[in-house]
Amino acid sequence: HLPALHYRDDALYMEQVSVAALAKHYGTPCYVYSKQAILDVYQAYTDSFSSLKHQVCYAVKANSNLAVLGILAQAGAGFDIVSRGELMRVLAAGGEAARVVFSGVGKTRGDIKYALTQGIGCFNVESISELTLINDVAKSLDKPAPISLRVNPDVDANTHPYISTGLKDNKFGIAHEDAATVYQQAAELSHIDIVGIDCHIGSQLTEVEPFVAALDKIIELVHSLRDKGIELRHIDLGGGLGVRYIDETPVSIDEFAEALLPKLSALGLTVFFEPGRSIVANAGILLTTVDVLKPTEHKNFAIVDAAMNDLIRPALYQAEMAVIPEMLPQNGLDTDGTQPWDIVGAICETGDFLAKDRLLSLATGDVLAITGAGAYGFTMSSNYNSRPRASEVMVADDRHQLIRKRETIEALYADETLWQAE
Ligand code: LLP
Repeated sequence: HLPALHYRDDALYMEQVSVAALAKHYGTPCYVYSKQAILDVYQAYTDSFSSLKHQVCYAVKANSNLAVLGILAQAGAGFDIVSRGELMRVLAAGGEAARVVFSGVGKTRGDIKYALTQGIGCFNVESISELTLINDVAKSLDKPAPISLRVNPDVDANTHPYISTGLKDNKFGIAHEDAATVYQQAAELSHIDIVGIDCHIGSQLTEVEPFVAALDKIIELVHSLRDKGIELRHIDLGGGLGVRYIDETPVSIDEFAEALLPKLSALGLTVFFEPGRSIVANAGILLTTVDVLKPTEHKNFAIVDAAMNDLIRPALYQAEMAVIPEMLPQNGLDTDGTQPWDIVGAICETGDFLAKDRLLSLATGDVLAITGAGAYGFTMSSNYNSRPRASEVMVADDRHQLIRKRETIEALYADETLWQAE
């Protein structure tokens, strides 16, 4: 069937709803997600790994809107969380704590207690000090804590340095060579229940080789743990599968499965994945309106109503995301006569850009869609420059629903007080 985002008679559609209608109805800036696109990728994961016992734990940080979580929970997904807040969202959306893995380098006593009380599926433990803290809390609740160790396999993920996590000098995980010893320490703790092993080497990986290299190292460990009498139930390969933003050619979920399946089948463990971006990135767009056109001698700037506070990926990672018009120009995709534009926000920073040098034919009032914005878009947004955060809308077939209303400006300072102490 048609991709969720497509042109029909030169007008842009998300599923069966015209983007112009959405912009008019909800205003801009506005994030729009396709339910079908989310479910299609989720299904691709479960289909590709259907020969194995597996659990897809969607990484909540990519897009934590309750509607997104609820759709995935209903489809049977588990979740990967990194904070108490994310766990509360999952539960509020109807997710099951038993299908949740808790990642992150800095879990607090409070986080751990809450997660244990709710019946969390597994803590992905990143240090010895975290392990002893979890044991402590578990003892005080008289409830054994299920854990995996997050192993840092020291594999180069070939991705942007800010989102590469599996190298020796990253803050994440327990060094591969120390892992067996830490497992033995864990086995001696009274309230620790060892259930698995975990790794996550980075994000936006476009090749399969780093995944295979990491898996090989983890498998070696699983065997040496078996020799030591430590039996695991699951292996968690983290997230990280990349997507196409402009012209990337990421390995498909099928190819990913094909490369890993033979090794995983031989292992006989349940397999967990923690995909975030690959599930939601291309299910979402950010709609924005051109407010001001400012051609200068050197550059043409289109100032739009979205900015780095709405979508920080271009500013933070030099990420390139596609910008497409709501209505194709009369000459179609022919870029003759178009000019290169920098698509920028109104924030007082040179780093406030959404895209650079894009050939577009623009007029003020035009609606543009930034594609690939379903992951790490809204979740990384802020109120910088006292800008209310954008609204979010879900589309399914010919229906659409506001799933987060635009913040009001009053709400931005409602919890603040004037200084009154003298
Ligand atoms: N599991 C763990 C432990 C993680 O740290 C992450 C992402 C994931 C799973 C999900 O990875 P994914 O499948 O989404 O690649 N804000 C950045 C990406 C940061 C990723 C952080 N960790 C960006 O916009 O590119």
